[in-house]
Amino acid sequence: MRRHLHLSRSHTKTRTGAAILVAAVCLAVSMGHTNAADLTIQAGQSGKPISPNLVGIFFEDLNYAADGGLYAELIQNRSFEYSPTEQPDWHPLEFWELQKRGGGDGSVSVANMRPIHENNPHYALLQVRTPGEGVGIANGGFGGIPLQGGEAYEASFWAYQAFMGIMWGRGDNSIPMRVSLRLETADGEVLAEARMEILGRQWRKVSARLTPTRTVNDARLVLLAHAQGALCIDMVSLFPEKTFRNRPNGLRADLAQALADLNPRFVRFPGGCLVHAGGIRRYYNWKDTIGPVEQRRARPNHAWGYHQTMGLGYFEYFQFCKDIGAKPVPIVAAGVSCQHAGHSPGRGQEGLPMEEMPAYIQDVLDLIEWANGPATSKWGAKRAAAGQPEPFGLKYLGVGNEEAITPVFKERFQMIYEAITEKHPEIVVIGTSGPFAGGEDFDNGWAFAKELKLEMVDEHYYVSPQWFWDNLDRYDRYDRNSAKVYVGEYAAHDRDRRRNTLRSALAEAAGLTSFERNGDIVHFTSYAPLLARRGHTQWHPDLIYFTGTEVFLTPNYYVQQLFGQNSGDRYLETTFEAGNAKKLAASSVIDSESGDLIVKIVNGDGEPVAIAIRLAGFASDVAMKAVKTVLTGPDADAVNRDGEPPVVKPASSTETIRPSFAYTAPAHSLTVFRIHR
Ligand code: AHR
Repeated sequence: MRRHLHLSRSHTKTRTGAAILVAAVCLAVSMGHTNAADLTIQAGQSGKPISPNLVGIFFEDLNYAADGGLYAELIQNRSFEYSPTEQPDWHPLEFWELQKRGGGDGSVSVANMRPIHENNPHYALLQVRTPGEGVGIANGGFGGIPLQGGEAYEASFWAYQAFMGIMWGRGDNSIPMRVSLRLETADGEVLAEARMEILGRQWRKVSARLTPTRTVNDARLVLLAHAQGALCIDMVSLFPEKTFRNRPNGLRADLAQALADLNPRFVRFPGGCLVHAGGIRRYYNWKDTIGPVEQRRARPNHAWGYHQTMGLGYFEYFQFCKDIGAKPVPIVAAGVSCQHAGHSPGRGQEGLPMEEMPAYIQDVLDLIEWANGPATSKWGAKRAAAGQPEPFGLKYLGVGNEEAITPVFKERFQMIYEAITEKHPEIVVIGTSGPFAGGEDFDNGWAFAKELKLEMVDEHYYVSPQWFWDNLDRYDRYDRNSAKVYVGEYAAHDRDRRRNTLRSALAEAAGLTSFERNGDIVHFTSYAPLLARRGHTQWHPDLIYFTGTEVFLTPNYYVQQLFGQNSGDRYLETTFEAGNAKKLAASSVIDSESGDLIVKIVNGDGEPVAIAIRLAGFASDVAMKAVKTVLTGPDADAVNRDGEPPVVKPASSTETIRPSFAYTAPAHSLTVFRIHR
């Protein structure tokens, strides 16, 4: 029996193939390989059009993915907004330490009487009673600030002079407060220093370029005042000058590069549960995330229990998309809170009161204007003021995340959807089908999508590796005339402490071959979650782990990368006769831009498979250059360990192949042939 996609247990060689090839495969089998297979690709045909944007990424701020992660800010709690609503023992001075140097004496407290902006209510009041060698505050960032010797950093803070001399005294406020800003090691060695003066009662930003003399991983930023008096201080910040693409208020270069290297065709953000957790009216409001950083409204990360500065906001997300050539796919709440909100698992969904819906819908419409409107429009002007006069070209907008499909949800979703399509028919609204691959919300979500004739529906599933192998034909059965599918969150969760095993990565690779084969209806896919900081990880597995200085790539990352870097826009019929192989999957695409034919083969079995590959339709004597990339490891349980060379990583070689050739796919492997025709 011959089947599309993956396996067929009956290994009957009915078709003709080069006798030499069959002999080579037989030899391989007789030399100890137990499995053999035939793989035929209809390479002479033009194939069916598939989504050229199949593989993207989904960024959500969990596991410290944003602050302390992708966002390059090195100071933690820079605006004194940490609060016990985030973690019980947190307060506005969390991660700050009073400094009294060389006989100095004074205090620091939290104030809110004269904030920089109403969205940024708290600041520090530093009082110097005896200056000594300086009284001030120090911050060690996210577990110690990593500094590169010889590299430049932009240190800054906002301040005004509260008073000089003693409180209630008649100090001379025309004398500036002398301040020093230092980078220091944990034991006080000064690595860089700048001096400045603060004069006047207006909030003012002060900046200095600091270049540490040597590399350390546990530095602190220290701000010291050197005269009797008091300063109000806020937005204390430290950024490496070298952010990704050197953007101010930018992204950590190594992490952003790891994302760019996936060649994602789109970026979904900001969540996930993040968009609607925390209860009604606490949804993620994109308007709080744009404009000058000191005017953004920081907030508790209701979904994941820490703090969001919003320094990584909508402008930064869209700019990153532009920088890496990916489409932005923002997600907005559907006018309902998460069904798990308010400490009521499964029963916490609440809808915005109907009288509040028009204003909420206007916020969503304003987002489209902000992204796409002319620089002369109200919201387009704000984008232009941030440095992007040209529209960002938003085309896709997700409404809702994993919602319980209730009447409350449906009513609000429909209102939002109709308002968008009426005003912006060019926008593709992505609907939701609950948190699982099947079940009530899934069925109702899809039924509702069909009723409304939505163009795309978001599916989520975190399932076992075996589930992927058992469901490779899932999308073969989907209605071709219905909404397109966005597999917005998926991952194979292995039994062993949800580790990023090679087994899980290959199951996802097999799934990706089925997404490619069904790329006529599966439009987008994104693994989840994306980023996780060691020591602050709430969810396993993730695609990329990191510390303050290192980035660890998982086997699952390499699978995403191989599919992202070897995507196509036409699918070629690919059939297997899989013999005894139980876990074999393949897909073949054409990348029209390069003209390359790309064949991907996943062997999830513990035995190698000797495969007779035939590119049907090609003249038999033609020789072609191919880049062969193999991702494999010692066994299915293999994982890449932090700080050690990865045991699972791709290896490439260039080969000359002919339209019929033999290839032995190693046990537990993904192989990509990129064939230059
Ligand atoms: O990816 C982690 C979480 O899983 C997302 O926030 C949510 O959408 C899903 O349940």
